[in-house]
Order: sequence, then C-alpha cells, then structure tokens
Amino acid sequence: MSVGIDYQSGFGNEFASEALPGVLPAGQNSPQRVAHGLYAEQLSGTAFTAPRHANRRSWLYRIRPAAVHAPFAPLAHARLHNRFDEAPATPNQLRWDPWPLPEAPTDFLDGLVTLAGNGGPAEQAGVGIHVYAANRSMQGRFFYDADGELLIVPQQGRLRIATELGVLAVAPLEIAVVPRGVRFRVELLDAQARGYVAENFGALLRLPDLGPVGANSMALPRDFLAPVAAYEDVEGDFALVAKFQGALWQARIGHSPLDVVAWHGNYAPYKYDLTRYNTVGSISVDHPDPSIFTVLTSPSDTPGTANMDFVIFPPRWLVAEHTFRPPYFHRNVASEFMGLVEGQYDAKAGGFAPGGASLHNCMSGHGPDAASFEKASAADTSVPDHLAGTMAFMFETRKVIRPTRQALEAPQLQRDYYRCWQGIARHFDPERP
Ligand SMILES: [Fe+2]
Repeated sequence: MSVGIDYQSGFGNEFASEALPGVLPAGQNSPQRVAHGLYAEQLSGTAFTAPRHANRRSWLYRIRPAAVHAPFAPLAHARLHNRFDEAPATPNQLRWDPWPLPEAPTDFLDGLVTLAGNGGPAEQAGVGIHVYAANRSMQGRFFYDADGELLIVPQQGRLRIATELGVLAVAPLEIAVVPRGVRFRVELLDAQARGYVAENFGALLRLPDLGPVGANSMALPRDFLAPVAAYEDVEGDFALVAKFQGALWQARIGHSPLDVVAWHGNYAPYKYDLTRYNTVGSISVDHPDPSIFTVLTSPSDTPGTANMDFVIFPPRWLVAEHTFRPPYFHRNVASEFMGLVEGQYDAKAGGFAPGGASLHNCMSGHGPDAASFEKASAADTSVPDHLAGTMAFMFETRKVIRPTRQALEAPQLQRDYYRCWQGIARHFDPERP
C-alpha cells in the first residue's frame, strides 16, 4: 500500500521534510524572510508549556498562512455530532450490523455517522465514536477537526488522505491518525469505503509504556509512518469545513490549504500497519488482560487509567494449556466499543460481522456466546490453535460510552443480541468433579 508514497519512520519524532530543497530555515524557526516567499506558521498540538516528553508542535512553511479564508458559517450535518446525552446511557449489551454503504454520492465527511461517545470537546476529555461509509472522494473541500484527533480505522476500501503535512495512503488492516487542527481531504482509491473513527477529545494518543514487557514488542515505534511534505499550489473556489465544539462550520477559501512546502516538528499525521503488531501473550496458562494488545493510548489525569485505549485482536497463536482460550467472561469498569475489520472474533460464533460494532458498557457482563463456550470447553488444549485472518479492535474508554439516538434507532441495531448468552447452560453439579 505504501508503494509510490514516501514516509518518515518513527513515532513522535522531530521529523523534517522539504518538497523544495532549502526551505527549512537553519538555526531558527521564524526568519525575517522565508525562502521562496513562503510564510512560517507554528501548529501547536499541546500547551506551549507541556512537559518536553509530551510537547507536540510543528513549524509549517506555506504559500499562505492558515488565517486566509472567508468567515465561517454553520454547516448542517444531521448525523455527525457530539450530543452524547440525547439518549439514555444503557447497561444493555448492544451490537450493530455493518453500517450500509451509500447509494447517493457521499464523501468521507458526509458519510460520517456518530454512534456513541462520552465527554466532549468543551471538557477536552472523552471520545466520539463514528463510522463512515462513502463512495466518492472529497471534491473541492477540505476538513479539519478542532475538537479532537481522528483515529481512522478503514474496514473496506483504501483511502488517500492528503493533509497539510503530506499524503497518507491507508488500506484495511492499517490505521491513520490525523491530529487536531490539521486540514485534510480524503480521497477514495476504491469504489467504496467504510470504516470507524475515534475522535479523541483528550490527551494525544501515544504508545503505551511497556513495563516488564521490556524495550520491545507490541507496536514498534519505527513502524509508524509520517508523511513527507507535499504541497498543492492550486487556486479556485473551495470550501474549508471545520468541526468546532461539536458542530460543523464552513468557509470559502480561494486556494488549497494543503500548501505546506516544508515542515519540521513532532506534531504530524501518521499511519500504522496493524499486521506489524508484535503480539505478546501467555505461554503457560490463562490470558493476560487485553491491555497487552494496546496499540495507542490517550492517558487521563489518573495514572494508568486511560481516557481512551485503541486495542486490537490480531491473528495469533493460542497455546495456554488447560485454559479456556477465548476471551474470558468479564465485567469491567472501563467501557468497550468493538469493531471488526475482517474475519471472525474468537468470542462469538456469529452475528458480529466485519463492519459491525458492539458496545459493552461499564460493569455490563459479557464474554463468549454459548456456542463459543461449549466449543472451547471441549477443545484439546495440548495443541496450539492459530487464529488467522481476523482483526477485531476496541475503543476502550474510562467514561461510560453513550450511544446516540440514531445508533439506538438504527435498523442495524440487533435487538436480539442478548440472546447469544441465553443458551448458556447450567452445568453445576456438586457431585461432579
Ligand atoms: Fe470485553
């Protein structure tokens, strides 16, 4: 997928890239005159005074500053919002069929539908959870999200994401992250595209600490790819759409805002190939908790308690002996929104389709369905199992995830989902060993 597009490797590096040589100033960021008549502009992703290890900003050298556009006016979008209090939060287990692909021309932005979320942009905590389904590229318009960074998880169809800092191409089994404020346009490389988006209102996603796991494994920093500078010197009548405090705004702009000729810094879009994840697990008995599958985490102010974790369930060997190998039954203080990119999730025999979703909220019991339990209880654990061709993921949050009204009223909601546990048999017998 990366063929033909250059990237810079690493997570949160001090990257530097020039589409024209000699643009980046030496020894300073804001010279009196920038090469080629460009403007210098800083884009801050964290407070100026954030600790150095967490401080993110980049310097952009561009044809026009970002300030050049007409005033914004409200732009209606019926399905994309951050109104997480419009329907009662529910302790019920919820599951949805895949969101339908559109028939009318629909680009990435129009194709976004908010399913759930918590917190919000005003409190700079929580996460918005959306799906997208599109059949055409964004044409003549650009988007930025001032409310949060966007973690895009394609499920079907490849995307070319042209950003101010360069181009990312992503396919299913890859992810892309577009930082808060970065302007971009999503183009479809296939006829249709569908996937999931986490809109992280909280602290920037970062790699989790590794603790006793050591210096390596899980997601490796060098597998994260940032774009190289690539600019559009194009004038015309375009629209710039902003998401600001939960609502969309639109301004006319007479040029492509993707006009950054060179940039340096550590605040940049990036992509990651989920198949590179170095999965760690048990080689004796039992499962470690699924935190071992954390790709990225957005910390909260409480150590060890994430605003949001992005967790994957990739292909892997299951070797634990005399162990119930599927995910165990559980109730957690965290809330779990799951999606499926491909294949089958090992805790369910059916009903959770690629492109579908499930939600298990704080302290709501869940786990394998009856068929999966019976099969795993009878399995021979003296031989390894290989889970192949699957990629489930989870947006796990500290706060309860509140479904939107449109998610609860959608025909995709499986109103009989609870039945997958109704067939779980009583096996208890005090006389049985
Ligand atoms: Fe769970």
